[in-house]
Amino acid sequence: MSVPVTLSSPRVRLDLPTRADTVAIAAACVDPEIQRWTTVPSPYTPRHAHSFVDALVGPGWASGRERTWAIREPGSTWLRGVISLRSEHRDVGFWMAPEARGRGLMHAALDLVAAFALTELGWPDVYWECNVGNVASAAVARGCGFVYTGTGIGLLPGRDGEPNLVWHGLRAATGTPAGALPWPAETSHHA
Ligand SMILES: CC(C)(COP(=O)(O)OP(=O)(O)OC[C@H]1O[C@@H](n2cnc3c(N)ncnc32)[C@H](O)[C@@H]1OP(=O)(O)O)[C@@H](O)C(=O)NCCC(=O)NCCS
Repeated sequence: MSVPVTLSSPRVRLDLPTRADTVAIAAACVDPEIQRWTTVPSPYTPRHAHSFVDALVGPGWASGRERTWAIREPGSTWLRGVISLRSEHRDVGFWMAPEARGRGLMHAALDLVAAFALTELGWPDVYWECNVGNVASAAVARGCGFVYTGTGIGLLPGRDGEPNLVWHGLRAATGTPAGALPWPAETSHHA
């Protein structure tokens, strides 16, 4: 059991996604980059946003299996993105609406959520993965102190049910995680 928690920093406020957010969620999730790099339904309809809020967000918090936050900017109620922690594999997932990208909002959100997992939930580490080639996701993870731990088959299958080839990494509560490797070259120009 867990109770929704609000996290905030000067850049972002993370709180519970509600039915009032379904317009923003549905508008963002038709974006080609979100469609390409995440497993949100395709095509994405407002009905998907409703069931995301009702069937995933609420029950996920209640069971503690998946804690999902809306990413907002201080002083605004509009949902800019979503970030979630899943406890089974201690992994994090996220997306940002296209018009809000490139302003450090996901960096700020991931920092808050990773720190919450490591300190409040007591996780020894947080796991991140993205499909090979998703340099934007890798840049966020890298910038937030994740180390790269390799390329392999992802936790989740792709939308087509086929295994996904992913880059994966960890941010540990203390020290450098075992298995740290140099980040793939594609991600380096942005370091
Ligand atoms: C990945 C994503 C969430 C990044 O969100 P964002 O708010 O633009 O990220 P930020 O502005 O916080 O950027 C954080 C870092 O990533 C870098 N970055 C962001 N977009 C990038 C891009 N397209 N290419 C390379 N680096 C990028 C930023 O420059 C910044 O690096 P720095 O800290 O070294 O300056 C966003 O591009 C997105 O939603 N993509 C589609 C969905 C997706 O891929 N989700 C992740 C699935 S694993």
